[in-house]
Amino acid sequence: MGLKKIALIGGGQIGGVLAQLIASKQLGDVVMYDIVEDLPQGKCLDIAEASRIDGFDVSVKGTNDYKDIEGSDLVIVTAGLPRKPGMSRDDLLVTNANIIKTVAENVKKFAPNSIVIIVSNPLDAMVTLFQKVTGFEHNRVMGQAGVLDSSRFATFIAWELGVSVKDVNALVLGGHGDTMVPIVRYANVNGIPVMELLEQKYSDRSKAAEVMKAMVERTKQAGGEVVKLLKTGSAFYSPASASIAMAESIIFDEKRVLPVCAYLNGEYGVNGYYVGVPAILGKNGIQKIVEFSLDQEEKALLDNSVNAVKSLVADMERLGF
Ligand code: LAC
Repeated sequence: MGLKKIALIGGGQIGGVLAQLIASKQLGDVVMYDIVEDLPQGKCLDIAEASRIDGFDVSVKGTNDYKDIEGSDLVIVTAGLPRKPGMSRDDLLVTNANIIKTVAENVKKFAPNSIVIIVSNPLDAMVTLFQKVTGFEHNRVMGQAGVLDSSRFATFIAWELGVSVKDVNALVLGGHGDTMVPIVRYANVNGIPVMELLEQKYSDRSKAAEVMKAMVERTKQAGGEVVKLLKTGSAFYSPASASIAMAESIIFDEKRVLPVCAYLNGEYGVNGYYVGVPAILGKNGIQKIVEFSLDQEEKALLDNSVNAVKSLVADMERLGF
């Protein structure tokens, strides 16, 4: 596949890291749009001036004009406000819905054939709104959340067990909010169940369960933990990395199985909502939702998370979006 044109909508913290990662990996030419005058131009100039040092040869340009995203193959949307300490992602609903609506209208106009990854919060609602405004096929509008949430879960497990994070597989399903569902039963270290390793470590089942419960809770609150420490914004390195993993699977048609915020048509018993589930990502975006059977407890947790997404979307619709 030839060089891609990748539009980044939003020149904030995530947008900056995205541009740098795309350039250094030479995934494509970057156009970064932001509403703030000179900001994206400044960031992109700074990144482009590292090209000789890092040895990348792609174009990295900032703009305040949506016209410059014309013909983009892939669009990654990070526009919107981040959380402040004490805020939930849902508190951003009204402000960011207004922003995403405008973004969607312009992406529809200037990059009508693009595949779109939304990162802005509250994630599940923003993906829903973006798809509604553009009318793009559901397979090419998705949200980034699960790759990051799963990576956080895997990181905590690796730290706890003292093993390389590269060997940890852990999956988080559901909405990107406090109700997200880390799947404990299938968390493994190169195929070995994490619960079994925890039981060996503590020689005590209930202690192992307690340690796992704490990791699950930390995963669910992990975004807020970073917000609390940063005080002036939310996580940006890891959300950018997660979005790049999705982008690479699409650009190189890798068909990776990644947890993404995807539109469900009956899968997992959900009809007509965007929710985090495993999906195959390839050149057309979401190629297939991957289903697996959940036990009763997991199903109840996922239903609870889906209900949280439904009520967020209902709130958004009541507000006229
Ligand atoms: C997080 C925010 C970006 O999870 O949603 O860190």
